[in-house]
Amino acid sequence: MNPESVQQEVNELVELAASGPETARADCLERLTGLRALYARLDPKDKPAYFPGDTIRALQRTARLLEDRKPKIPHDIDLLKLLHDVFGHSEFRPGQEEIIRSVLAGKDCLAVMPTGGGKSLTYQLPARMMGGTTLVISPLIALMKDQVDALTEKGLHATYLNSSLVEAERRQRILDIRRGRYELVYAAPEGIEFYIGSLMEGVDLRLVAVDEAHCISEWGHDFRPAYRTFSGLKQRFKGVPMLALTATATKKVQKDILDQLGMEQALCFQGTFYRSNLKIATVKKGEGGAVGKQIMKLVKARKGKPGIIYCFMRKTVEVLAEALQEQGIKALAYHAGLETADRIRIQERFRDGEIDVMVATVAFGMGIDKGDIRFVIHRDMPRSLEGYAQEIGRAGRDGKESECILFFAWPDVLLYDQMTEGQGNTPRSIVMQRRRQVREMFSFADSSRCRHQALAAHFGEQMAPCAESCDACVKRKK
Ligand SMILES: Nc1ncnc2c1ncn2[C@@H]1O[C@H](COP(=O)(O)OP(=O)(O)OP(=O)(O)O)[C@@H](O)[C@H]1O
Ligand SMILES: [Mg+2]
Ligand SMILES: [Zn+2]
Repeated sequence: MNPESVQQEVNELVELAASGPETARADCLERLTGLRALYARLDPKDKPAYFPGDTIRALQRTARLLEDRKPKIPHDIDLLKLLHDVFGHSEFRPGQEEIIRSVLAGKDCLAVMPTGGGKSLTYQLPARMMGGTTLVISPLIALMKDQVDALTEKGLHATYLNSSLVEAERRQRILDIRRGRYELVYAAPEGIEFYIGSLMEGVDLRLVAVDEAHCISEWGHDFRPAYRTFSGLKQRFKGVPMLALTATATKKVQKDILDQLGMEQALCFQGTFYRSNLKIATVKKGEGGAVGKQIMKLVKARKGKPGIIYCFMRKTVEVLAEALQEQGIKALAYHAGLETADRIRIQERFRDGEIDVMVATVAFGMGIDKGDIRFVIHRDMPRSLEGYAQEIGRAGRDGKESECILFFAWPDVLLYDQMTEGQGNTPRSIVMQRRRQVREMFSFADSSRCRHQALAAHFGEQMAPCAESCDACVKRKK
């Protein structure tokens, strides 16, 4: 480029911005970004020749003009109508509207809502209303295609970026995103720095949503180091609201999320934790016979109903799945040792009702939105209450009664301790935290306190005993 061609480009941009139709906004922003990048690349001594004072001022005016043209969202907007027209729902779930209004007002928000509570909608609906692009950071790579297909069916323009794409495809998507073709872009946390660098600068970003935000905290139960790379996002996208979402964050984890994401003045929304349709019971291993036999009996009594059985070890998963198959149960094994393609296929077969029982390690289930899961059995105790809450949260998302049966024993605790100790370079404070978490889990299972009340209390919520949705309460009534 020479100074004349720069001038030519600036003239075109100014004209397009002044007279162009609304749809030209993305194009204008892209041109503006290109010019800014060129300016940044120039040697300081060449800048005045390429960008004389008048040119700079014209560009500033144009940038302001484009800014003013951001669609304004009226206060009295009929959100219900939109909810119905786009998503087909007739009313909001608790908290959804409040969160959406806060996002539309440009505020940061941390939303802690129960599993299956409808968190996705709190960024999907704004994405439709705000124009520009909403970036959704999500760890659920295996589900992105599914989610995007489902949204596309509803008429939303959505796409995703993750490691499953070949290079050419990824480049094409980035180009399309820069052209403003998508309202919603899902991206995996891994490699986000690269995407953000090469992509978002030229994009008219309106909202950043961080899903499963507890993954950002080492105090949570599912820490993912890639989540740590978002700490600069808020700085980078000044003025763009940020929405962090999770079902399971203790107060400590909530604080960590806010700190990590730099959300200083965020609205914090916390929904109730209690889901009365989940009937919780715990069984001490060894009481009432061998665990394998008991599980077999439980599953046979629920034949034809969709369920998940969580086991600690892959080997147990495989053995149990086979034993169930031999008894005529449509069961399959799922764990992280399987090929990604197989995992996706198994997941789809479960979703579509071809198989009834998923026997799995904790590798299965995050983000799975199958409404009719009637039971979740834990063959082994989970390592924390947060993990437990996530896993049972996959049952009964349709609101109908569903059972959560937990088998537990002290040796489970010792097994987790051994594993934690085995990870040699883990900081002492984290080791202690994990030991505490396992013990809290055990106490929960072993106690006679209302299970729902105890679980809610763990997340800082007070409630009266459930009276009828857990074995402890039912036993007390007898
Ligand atoms: N207002 C609503 N009315 C009826 N159904 C809704 C509403 N909002 C969301 N849903 C449905 O609720 C289900 C669960 O929603 P979603 O997947 O967003 O849950 P979530 O809060 O993200 O849960 P998790 O923590 O497990 O990821 C979806 O099938 C969704 O279509
Ligand atoms: Mg979700
Ligand atoms: Zn109870």
